[in-house]
This record gives sequence, structure tokens and C-alpha cells, in this order.
Amino acid sequence: MISRFLILVGMALLLSLAIAVPVFAGGWAVITVDDLPVTATAGEPLTIGFTVLQHGKTPTSGLSPTIVFTLPKEKQFSVIAEEDDTGHYTASVTFPMEGEWEWTINAFMEQPMPAISVAAAPVVAAPSQPTTQTEAVPYALIVRVLAFGLALVGAFFAFRTKSRLTMGLTALCLTVALASFIPGSIVPKVEAQDVPTAQPAVESSITQVELGRRLFIAKGCITCHMNNKVVSSQYVTINMGAPNLTNFSASQEALFLRLKDPASVKSDTQMPNLGLSEVEIEALIAFINSK
Ligand code: HEC
Repeated sequence: MISRFLILVGMALLLSLAIAVPVFAGGWAVITVDDLPVTATAGEPLTIGFTVLQHGKTPTSGLSPTIVFTLPKEKQFSVIAEEDDTGHYTASVTFPMEGEWEWTINAFMEQPMPAISVAAAPVVAAPSQPTTQTEAVPYALIVRVLAFGLALVGAFFAFRTKSRLTMGLTALCLTVALASFIPGSIVPKVEAQDVPTAQPAVESSITQVELGRRLFIAKGCITCHMNNKVVSSQYVTINMGAPNLTNFSASQEALFLRLKDPASVKSDTQMPNLGLSEVEIEALIAFINSK
């Protein structure tokens, strides 16, 4: 009885190993996105380019990496990236709708990327007619007719009785009647046009630290370096001897050199030159040194 159970457990373990192994069967690779898109617009094509460095060293040709885009619980689609230079691939993507799209690049392994905020396609506003407050028109008309009527009656009596009071009242009624023609007084105002509702607010500016955190993922640092500030267990980090950077910090100058050209810091370094721009390096430094 017990031995049979043990055999079953053993088989289950073997099976799970067999499933887990193919993840790294083709080795592993550092995937580095060229320009990390933070925002996009639905319906407008966006080009995504990236480099695949097998084992963090060799640009790898001949792959057909797929990029899978997911709007949680709503939609999923994928595109195949094409090689345009040794180890460099590009794909054009057009998001069908707005939302926080999650995506992964699959080349050797599946590497999730920081979500892209996709804004709604701009609404082509139909020339909207100015709307008038219809129910207010009869009100103004009534005031006008009444005032004129009273003025007329007043004028009649004023003429007959020559009473000052009646003349005064007549004048008042006339004034009210005439005033009702002044735009913006009793006459209903033309309502402000319906401004087409602006696109949903898109994160147009993120902090340096947040940008650095996203680059740490999108440039492939996370593939070699553990970092608990990248909150998520979904990223694959290879145990290749790179230091855990969770509590690491260093001077601006030292980090700049290390990221710009790792070999200038250590000639036999295992860390690749990822071709980072100065803007990207600044953000990465802010993230690395953040608490
Ligand atoms: C292919 C693996 C790999 C990738 C990708 C990689 N590194 Fe490294 N990194 C290393 C290794 C290994 C070291 C240890 C020293 C050495 O070999 O140069 C290191 C060292 C460092 C250090 C210095 C740590 C110290 O103790 O002085 C920093 C900072 C660093 N990496 C940041 C980054 C950042 C940021 C990225 C992404 C832009 C990145 N690394 C990408 C492998 C990698």
C-alpha cells in the first residue's frame, strides 16, 4: 500500500521534472528591449525591437520569437518578431483596444515585460450642434409678453389718469420687457458645447525610480540579477553568479561606468554591454540606489 503510494509520488516528481526541464532546454538568453514603450494608442502601430543574447553573450540568429499580449480577462493575441540584424528582432503591434496590456517575449524562455498603458483611439468628434435649453425659452417669452402687456395696459391708464405711479410702473414693465432681449439676461444662454471627453488619463510621467525598475526588467538585468524590489516572482532569474542587487548601492560614477561599459570596470566581466542610453542609465541608477 505505502510502497505503491511512494511509486506514484516518485512518478509524479519525475513527470514534473520532465515538464520543467524544457524551459531551459535551449539554454537561456538575456532579452533586451531597445526602447521600452511605456504608453501606446489603440489602433496605432507600435514597433518593438529587442536583442537576444544567448547565455548573456552571443547574439542569436534564426529564432522566431513570439510576443504575447494579454489584456487580463479580455483579450490575448501574439505576433512573431522578425530578425533584421544578427540577434536583433522587431515586430509591429497594433493594440485593438485600450487598457493595461501585459506582454511577454518568448525566446528560449518566456520573459514578462512591464505592462504598456494603451490609450483609447482618439475620438473623431462629430461637429456637435450647440444645444439650447429648450425648456427655458417659453419662460423668457412669458416674461416678455407679460411685461409688454402690462406696459401696454399701464401706458393706457397712465395716459388716462396721468398718475405718476402708473407711469413709473409702465416704465418698469417696458424696461423688463426690453431687458429680456439682452443676451445672457433672462434669455436662456446657449449651453457650452459638449467637449468630446478627453482620452483617459495615461501615465505620461513616471518617476525615475519606476522607470528604472521597468528597465531593470526590459533590459534583461533581472535575468542575471535577483532584485527583490522588482516585486514579482514571474521573472526568470538564472543562477549564473551575478550578485543580488536588492540591497546594493554605489556611487553615481561607479554605476555609470559599470552600466555604460562593464568591461571597463572588470576586463573579464560576465556582464554584457547592453548598449544602454544615458537616460536609461540614469533611471537604472536611481532604481538601484533606491531603498
Ligand atoms: C548576463 C548576465 C548579466 C546581465 C544581463 C547583467 N548583469 Fe550585472 N553583473 C553580472 C555579473 C556576473 C556581475 C558580477 C561582476 C562581473 O562579473 O562583472 C555583475 C555586476 C553588476 C553590478 C556591480 C555589482 C557589484 O557588486 O559591484 C551592477 C550594479 C550590475 N551588475 C547591474 C546590472 C544592471 C543594471 C543590468 C541591466 C542593465 C545588468 N547588471 C545586467 C551579470 C549580468
